[in-house]
Amino acid sequence: MSEKRYHVDAAIAEGVGYTIVENASLEGRNSFRVPARANLLIDVRRPEALGELFGYPMLNSTPLLILGEGSNVLFTRDWPGIVLCMVALGIEERGAEGACTRVRVKAGEKWNDFVYWSLARGFCGLENLVLIPGTVGAAPIQNIGAYGVEVAEFIGEVEAWDRHSNSLVRLAKADCLFGYRDSVFKRERDRYIVTAVDFLLPRQRELQIDYAGVREELSALGIGTPTAPTVAEAIARIRTRKLPNPDLVGNAGSFFKNPLIDADLGKLLQAQHPTIPAWEMPDSRVKISAAWLIESCGFKGLRQGHAAVSEVHALVLVNLGGASGMEIWALAEAIRKSVFDRFQVLLEPEPLVV
Ligand code: EPU
Repeated sequence: MSEKRYHVDAAIAEGVGYTIVENASLEGRNSFRVPARANLLIDVRRPEALGELFGYPMLNSTPLLILGEGSNVLFTRDWPGIVLCMVALGIEERGAEGACTRVRVKAGEKWNDFVYWSLARGFCGLENLVLIPGTVGAAPIQNIGAYGVEVAEFIGEVEAWDRHSNSLVRLAKADCLFGYRDSVFKRERDRYIVTAVDFLLPRQRELQIDYAGVREELSALGIGTPTAPTVAEAIARIRTRKLPNPDLVGNAGSFFKNPLIDADLGKLLQAQHPTIPAWEMPDSRVKISAAWLIESCGFKGLRQGHAAVSEVHALVLVNLGGASGMEIWALAEAIRKSVFDRFQVLLEPEPLVV
């Protein structure tokens, strides 16, 4: 069956605020690049159009999936309903607030473009989060983090469409319930559609360069006095070496979260395996490295059909070309079983598995 498009004319789409494609392919809309289809795919350019869209009864009676760039989702089957993408663009400085500037960014902007925009304007803070794939709208949902920094630290407010009140709402940072790869937007996936994020960006801040490997990379670059842009450069180089590029090989970054386990199990595992990377959390739980657990079970670089565990990072599952979502999920299940049998730790997928 072929795709059927509505409002495809750019000028009309601008006015209406959205475009609709029926029986749409999602293969180009997920970074694993696995085949899947949606009954309807709606690209929303203007958040205000959500009011009109949710006025249609069908939108409220059909399963709805919100997608950004699809860099944190695995489709194991077609989506039996509507896929909605916020593609609104725009970055706006809204004025000073204390030592920071409020910057409002629409959900459809690419995260990495925004990081470089902020650095070019002399802001700092986002340099450790360089090269993370996905959109700005997706960033708060799983509270993206890397090299010792989480995005929540720089978020002032999140604007979202609330399907309970059928209106645009603004959630203060405290109401976003940010945690490790977690937020209210993830917990109440069916309720909120993130439409814009307000960041509070400083111009001066102590650089976070203590994460393993960052200082070494700066030295290798000959940088004696690091700045936010040079830290970004160092981290981009580490990521390029340690994580497969989703533009070249289908993947969704870390496939599993680093598990948070009870202190007792943590102590036991550390006693049995002294090299296990582990970090004590403020709540007395212990975060352990999922990549280490997976590598210890012999999965790093392992191929299964068209799917594989990356050779450069054991946390990343890759599509070697032509893999189905089910094939990737089968590999994920094999990893979870093996890690659980050996360490009694259940790995939780990081991306949304459809
Ligand atoms: N490790 C292994 N085997 C590997 C890779 C790593 O044993 O194949 C061990 C390393 O020795 C190291 C530890 O695991 O001690 C941590 O490795 P790394 O620094 O690569 O970080 P990570 O915990 O595996 C997390 C994030 C990444 C983020 C990096 C860097 C999660 C689920 N993942 O990975 O985020 O880039 O830290 O900050 O928290 C993502 O979320 O998609 C993502 C890529």
